[in-house]
Amino acid sequence: MDIDYWDKICKNYCSEILSVYDDDLQGIVKQRIKEAGAAFSSARVADLGCGVGRFTPLLANSFGEVDACDFSIVGLGKAKRRCRGLGNVNFHQVDLSRDVLPFEPVDFAFCANVLIMPTLDKRLRAWRSVCSQVARGGSLLLVVPSMESAQMEFYDSIESHLSDGYGCSEAVRLSIEEKATTADLRLGIYQLDGVKTKHYLREELKQMLEVREFEVKSIEKVKYPTEGYGNLFRWDWLVSAVRK
Ligand SMILES: C[S@@+](CC[C@H](N)C(=O)[O-])C[C@H]1O[C@@H](n2cnc3c(N)ncnc32)[C@H](O)[C@@H]1O
Repeated sequence: MDIDYWDKICKNYCSEILSVYDDDLQGIVKQRIKEAGAAFSSARVADLGCGVGRFTPLLANSFGEVDACDFSIVGLGKAKRRCRGLGNVNFHQVDLSRDVLPFEPVDFAFCANVLIMPTLDKRLRAWRSVCSQVARGGSLLLVVPSMESAQMEFYDSIESHLSDGYGCSEAVRLSIEEKATTADLRLGIYQLDGVKTKHYLREELKQMLEVREFEVKSIEKVKYPTEGYGNLFRWDWLVSAVRK
């Protein structure tokens, strides 16, 4: 999940990966952004890991000023084109795992499916950047993959193999990712579209934010269309938290 990987994904964003903006079945993420914008319309906000800028125009139209950043030049180029005509967006090329961000902490930070890198030290450094970019009293709206959702897909896969007539051990074997190590499974590193991606437990998110001096206001599901399994839907976690 380095810059080259994300540059490649950003070339064809919506066909390459699930897009929170386009695939959120209930539009809950847009709704939470609009609610925050209605309450704090002149606030300074950040789109941390803006990618191709799916959410950036909504943020620009809902708040006073937006700092949008990403390390992918391809993503930033597309985000800039999408925001042409909007005078309140500043773009920055930064690596959240490495760089000091070139703007002041903001009143509202949005960070959707960015803190997903499989390498623990890079991920923790990105967490530090994201959390410290929220001003005290400011809000963080975070979207991350759900480990509970991935577990439910595993459960459902076993059920469907059993109903296809496989025996128990075969159903389990066919449902386990071949490339996953024991450490991956314990850390919530599952494959998404063949790429190792950090997934989070609801309680883990709560704990991670609390030790970083955030008060968690809500943790909700962002539901996505199913991919052929029973009545199951996949979901990400949408976390709303305030920095103390
Ligand atoms: C799944 S995309 C999400 C894009 C956008 N937030 C959205 O929801 O449409 C993840 C984005 O995070 C960016 N990203 C990943 N690691 C990063 C890092 N260390 N520093 C800056 N951006 C990063 C990628 O370049 C990519 O654009």
